[in-house]
Amino acid sequence: MHNQKPSCGSLAASKLFHSSKEPPLFFIMMRFNIKVALLMISILGFFTMFVMWSLCGDKHFRELGGQLVKSRDSISSEEIDCFINNEYVIGCRKEGDDVFLPFSFLRKYFEIYGKLVNLDGVERFEWSHNSYNKIYYPKGRYDPRGVFMYFENYNVEMRDRVKYVSAIEGVPISTQWGSHGYFYATQIAQFGLSHYSKNLTDPEPRRKVIEDSYKNQAKWIVTSDSFLDRIFDSNVSSNVMKFRTGDHISDIIYLKMDHVLDFVMNVDLMLGGNSCLSVVLQNREKGDIYNLHYISTDVTIKVQENNIYHGIGNTQEWKTLTRDLIVDLDKGLNILREKSKHKRVPRSKLKITGISLFGYGLVSNLTLSTSEHIQNFYNAAEWFVRYQDDNGGWPIPVRRHLANGFSDLQPGWYSSMGQGHALSVLARAYYHSGRDTRYLKAAIAGLKPFTVPSSKGGVLTTFMNKYSWYEEYPTSPPSFVLNGFIYSLLGLYDLMKIAPSGQADLAEELFNDGVYSLKNMITLFDMGSVTSYDLRHFTLSIAPNLARWDYHATHINQLLLLGKIMEEPLFTQTAERWRGYMNGKRAPHN
Ligand SMILES: *[C@@H]1O[C@H](CO)[C@@H](O)[C@H](O)[C@H]1NC(C)=O
Ligand SMILES: *[C@@H]1O[C@H](CO)[C@@H](O)[C@H](O)[C@H]1NC(C)=O
Ligand SMILES: *[C@@H]1O[C@H](CO)[C@@H](O)[C@H](O)[C@H]1NC(C)=O
Repeated sequence: MHNQKPSCGSLAASKLFHSSKEPPLFFIMMRFNIKVALLMISILGFFTMFVMWSLCGDKHFRELGGQLVKSRDSISSEEIDCFINNEYVIGCRKEGDDVFLPFSFLRKYFEIYGKLVNLDGVERFEWSHNSYNKIYYPKGRYDPRGVFMYFENYNVEMRDRVKYVSAIEGVPISTQWGSHGYFYATQIAQFGLSHYSKNLTDPEPRRKVIEDSYKNQAKWIVTSDSFLDRIFDSNVSSNVMKFRTGDHISDIIYLKMDHVLDFVMNVDLMLGGNSCLSVVLQNREKGDIYNLHYISTDVTIKVQENNIYHGIGNTQEWKTLTRDLIVDLDKGLNILREKSKHKRVPRSKLKITGISLFGYGLVSNLTLSTSEHIQNFYNAAEWFVRYQDDNGGWPIPVRRHLANGFSDLQPGWYSSMGQGHALSVLARAYYHSGRDTRYLKAAIAGLKPFTVPSSKGGVLTTFMNKYSWYEEYPTSPPSFVLNGFIYSLLGLYDLMKIAPSGQADLAEELFNDGVYSLKNMITLFDMGSVTSYDLRHFTLSIAPNLARWDYHATHINQLLLLGKIMEEPLFTQTAERWRGYMNGKRAPHN
């Protein structure tokens, strides 16, 4: 990246858009942040909650509990020391024969969750064994042309580890394993799959055509030295708007607007050098103004005060630009205030007050809509076609340190999860595009790393020299990460079902091998009350790496789906047992 300073719009913006010099610091937060919620619960818990430490059975507990509420005053309560494993002491309370421990203690000790809930003025306490409760039972038969797992619930681009969405490629830039930001195949695929899925589950978007140089012609304000015309462009067989602004910084083409609710912009455009299309957003409550500039440069993102610049590339070719303006604003403000995390400006507080053009170029089909899921999906699919390397892989350009004892993955490694997810994207693109073979070819080439041992740069390893395994992180020694492996199986399945018969036999072979391994290995991940994320306890001879609840839930969701696809009771039964672990059930002991 050059350090070239974007010039387009910055001058114009400060002239015409009354850009405030001070960055708006205070926003009202609408979304209830889970971390805040947990913090509040723990504070509440600390001061007010005492939960019975039941030495007796469940029934007894309930009876005592009932009695307790009724005759609280009549039972004397006294402070008492509780010795915890003879290691330390905490303050408890004794009432009759029962002892009560503070929930704040139990919460940490058992890693459980709980909160006070007020229902119609009646307060109660809700205890939960897990922090994460989203188990998705497959609704119908899994269809590789349909929704991917439950990804319609995902909003990948709003995740914190997405730095921004590239306006050149139309796909997210990750900071997950490297803070400078890079293209991460796994994340790009998830972005594509979530939009594909939402296209099938969301209501039809509202779409407002702002300018198509045909039936919809907007009232652009054109300063005296600027020029705007609507012509038929035979190159694209459609009407387009041709524009050029004058040399003076105040020369601009401007459309005043008052648009709320729908913030996804879609536009076909071809911009000359250093030209741009800018959108002005305003916080309706505070009045703060933000300018989003889409500028013909290769500098991907730049933020100065309330101006956020996205380079769209400098190719001077027609391009369809699809931007979620809310995401662009949010990511821009995030970059501006990296050190003091900004609060999100809620969608309901924003409006679009104007769109302007600067420089010269052609513009057509300018629309604002609720969503443009299919455009986003194809941006991801195109990225996979464009950036596949000669090994059929989508190399990950950052070093990855999984854990001590494993070799670091050097920049350029492949992930079975990235490869598998890519197959799920490309198979769907092949189907959805009416069999565009570019997508099929890329998907088939994407199988290659599955056949190359991880020691030789692929993703294949074997367990005990017997069971094939596709490594999300192809470490030495192998790590056997479960969720990435199952995602890769789903990718293989999608491709083998969608490819014309005979063309993806390798996908079927790899899938069957993988399912065979999973059947024989799945219970190795069962820790009796939780699951393990990988098999490092075996390959590194160390403590198991227990899966957090959200990963545990992912394991369950994946097994439920695979169990249904394969009609394999082992997967379904295992998933059910693991679901029980989320509610505190445990495997029996001897
Ligand atoms: C889904 O995509 C189709 C084009 O394939 C489009 O016509 C439709 O409006 C989209 N629906 C949603 C909800 O995105
Ligand atoms: C069509 O493309 C050609 C070659 O790129 C260019 O010279 C011509 O100006 C274009 N026509 C219009 C109307 O833009
Ligand atoms: C504008 O949209 C129409 C209808 O979808 C399409 O035929 C035309 O090619 C588009 N214009 C440009 C410049 O892409």
